[in-house]
Amino acid sequence: MGTSYAHFTVPVFCLLLFSSRLAFSQLDYNFYAYTCPHVENIVSYGLWKAIQKETRIAASLLRLHFHDCIVDGCDASILLDDTKNFNGEKNAGPNRGSARGYEVIDDIKAEVEKACPSTVSCADILTLAATQAVHCAGGSYWPVPLGRRDSTTASQKAANEQIPSPFESLENITAKFVSKGLDLNDVVVLSGAHTIGFAQCFTFRRRLFNFGGSGKPDPTLDSSMLKKLQTVCPNGDMTNTNNKIAPLDSQTINQFDNLYYKNVMSNTGLLESDQVLLQDPNSASMVQYYSMYPSLFSDDFATSMVKLGNVGVLTGEEGEIRKNCHFVN
Ligand code: HEM
Ligand SMILES: *[C@@H]1O[C@H](CO)[C@@H](O)[C@H](O)[C@H]1NC(C)=O
Repeated sequence: MGTSYAHFTVPVFCLLLFSSRLAFSQLDYNFYAYTCPHVENIVSYGLWKAIQKETRIAASLLRLHFHDCIVDGCDASILLDDTKNFNGEKNAGPNRGSARGYEVIDDIKAEVEKACPSTVSCADILTLAATQAVHCAGGSYWPVPLGRRDSTTASQKAANEQIPSPFESLENITAKFVSKGLDLNDVVVLSGAHTIGFAQCFTFRRRLFNFGGSGKPDPTLDSSMLKKLQTVCPNGDMTNTNNKIAPLDSQTINQFDNLYYKNVMSNTGLLESDQVLLQDPNSASMVQYYSMYPSLFSDDFATSMVKLGNVGVLTGEEGEIRKNCHFVN
């Protein structure tokens, strides 16, 4: 009896090992359950401390995650400093002087390394921070599959080409999302992130005075909003006011809610790329729908964020677990 029991346990043990290796090559909700069980708490403590210092940091981390994922996948490539081998993404047009939150990720990573050395990727830390940031700002919470690995390179060119610009047409923005396996619905839902955070004058000033060479403001911008924005970003003094900021959602600046869609409906979206959502009948009807049903926006935002978080991830033996998010090991 004893012998046959022993014989029986060996294959069962092997089977378990085998199945955990299989799970290792894709994202998993319990990825760090044994190797770093407190990682989510470490991230939330670091995030909480950062938000105490500056409320806006929640928005900045959400954007940082988007800019990581949309460029060659969620692989923390945006966190790499320039080296002699490559120009990284930090200094690409859409990031230089506007991507924020790097220090928060550094602080959290340092704490995570103390608890579980060389175990948790920078890409997962950024994903967790962005997800929790939405929750801290009053949005929903959703579980995040983990197990992303970090890239060993970054590309400034890819960042310039792949991150959508606020001056692009909806068609072009959608094409960039589609090339990552996302769709028009994801464009509309994820644009709802512009319910928190700020934008600098240079990203929307051309709407205020001489839109498309017309000598007039953008006709799709509400007139009282226009007056306010013209005082923040006056016509003459470009160099001194290019970096002045205005809230993306002026009604509830730091609250993660569905007012972004009400703003777009009432022509008070801040960016051209917000207002263009009304130009296509399909996206316009989605904007209207989310403006009416906050809980459906909340659910769909979670779904689209998980999709975004899965774009081009490295898993298994791919990439590495960086020790310091700034540098390849
Ligand atoms: C659809 C195409 C998008 C365009 C063209 C766009 C463009 C922009 C621009 C120009 C800014 C202002 C940056 C600055 O002035 O420093 C901004 C801010 C922001 N974006 Fe987007 N964005 C897009 C989609 C997204 C998505 C998908 C997310 C997240 C899921 C997102 C999250 C944010 C947040 C939270 C901010 C505020 C950041 C802060 O205050 O630091 N954006 N975006
Ligand atoms: C859209 O993309 C095409 C091809 O890259 C480009 O030529 C065009 O200028 C873009 N249009 C806008 C409005 O961004």
